[in-house]
Amino acid sequence: MQTPATHMPESVVIVLFGATGDLAGRMVLPALVEVHERGLMPDRWRLIGCAAEDLDDETFRDRVEAALARGGHRLPEDWTELRSRVRYVGGTFSAAEPGDLPAVLAAAREELRQQSGAEPLVLHFLAVPPAAFAPITRGLGAHDLTDGARVVYEKPYGTSLESFEELDALVKEVLHEEQVFRIDHFLGKEAVQTIYVLRFANQLFGSEWSRASVDQVQIDVPEDLDVANRAAFYEATGAALDMLVTHLFQVAGQVAMEPPADLRDPASVIAAREAVLRAFHPLDPEEDVVLGQFEGYTDIEGVPEDSTQDTYVAARLWIDTERWRGVPFLLRTGKRMAVKDQRITLVLKPPFGPLAAELKEPNRIEICFSGEGEVVLGITVKTPGPDLAYSSGRAVLDLDDVPGGEALSPYASLISDAIIGDRSLFTTAEGLRAAFTAYLPLQGPDRPAPLPYAPGSWGPEEARRLAAPYRWCLGQ
Ligand code: BG6
Repeated sequence: MQTPATHMPESVVIVLFGATGDLAGRMVLPALVEVHERGLMPDRWRLIGCAAEDLDDETFRDRVEAALARGGHRLPEDWTELRSRVRYVGGTFSAAEPGDLPAVLAAAREELRQQSGAEPLVLHFLAVPPAAFAPITRGLGAHDLTDGARVVYEKPYGTSLESFEELDALVKEVLHEEQVFRIDHFLGKEAVQTIYVLRFANQLFGSEWSRASVDQVQIDVPEDLDVANRAAFYEATGAALDMLVTHLFQVAGQVAMEPPADLRDPASVIAAREAVLRAFHPLDPEEDVVLGQFEGYTDIEGVPEDSTQDTYVAARLWIDTERWRGVPFLLRTGKRMAVKDQRITLVLKPPFGPLAAELKEPNRIEICFSGEGEVVLGITVKTPGPDLAYSSGRAVLDLDDVPGGEALSPYASLISDAIIGDRSLFTTAEGLRAAFTAYLPLQGPDRPAPLPYAPGSWGPEEARRLAAPYRWCLGQ
């Protein structure tokens, strides 16, 4: 989002660590092309892919093409010219082993400096597993690659409160906070960004958005996909770390925040969202958390036979603010579940009086945040016909149909923000500390054993009790 405080640099060099990995291929590379095609990249840019594999520039360029094709993205019209802007550096990069990166980066900077007369921005994008953040960060510091640079860290930024603190201390030694962009791509989703406009620009929603009208909030992200192609990453993280302490907590912050002083001021937006994270009660593993593991997970190559890693998590989170006191936030996600969906549901209180007993479904406000996004109202209406009977109807607003704009994919939205320096949708160390603090009990001796569930199901039955007296709005 362009604001008075943001600035489009003359040129940028993007250094993509993990350039041959799954995340880069599926998300980051297509997003970079999208940012270019949407005119949100400076005219002059270079991309340097870095990864362990030993490839030459041409082979990496072919890999970029293949990754775009795999994701169903067409090549940009000016691709023949763009190809030459892409370089590759293979091998290890760390404080002890700089490899060729410093030289290749210096050459790219010099080229752009010559062309535009200004110092280019350098955007280091760490699309790598959490264990690689520290060595790369040390390397950037040791080889003076941080001047005029911003560094984007993927999630999870740390794997526990302790490792988060260690990483953050190191990052603060090497970088100034305004250089650090901790990404959580769920915050970049169009419909997640819509939430505060929906609330703060519509009294209809704004007035209902609190415990006075809402009995329960559900943030539900079932996934039907497998983890077979990223078993090593998954085995090291699991559902709770991969999705709960990261994406689902951040979305909860976005749903539950107080009105920021100024929606265009990144500092007020971040402060409002992260005040919510600081108000999270630490999870109660016994009462409020159900973990699951789909049957067959341990047969996947690379997963130990006795793995107790969770591929599913359902949690009841309590937020200690005046607005949300006593309202459970039900968060759920898992792999190999029945469907893929991403949905926030505010379950509204029943009306007063005898009518309440006749309603079949609670009324709801839903925000679907997968794809282009939808806002849905689940409301009670008269059943058409001669009798006075009640039915639940759904009014659906497809955000893709909203005139006047075109959505950006989440990564494109956030990369474009990092280039111009808009931090509104990035997380701070304080916010992540609060998230890891709330998550801490789940990493201790009270962590419940994951319950088995059938692939293609809605996960362990045990999770039903978390939603009582209602039910999970999706599925069962
Ligand atoms: C990633 C997680 O951050 O988000 C994956 O590591 C998950 O496990 C993915 O599948 C979901 O992202 P999206 O863009 O499909 O909503």
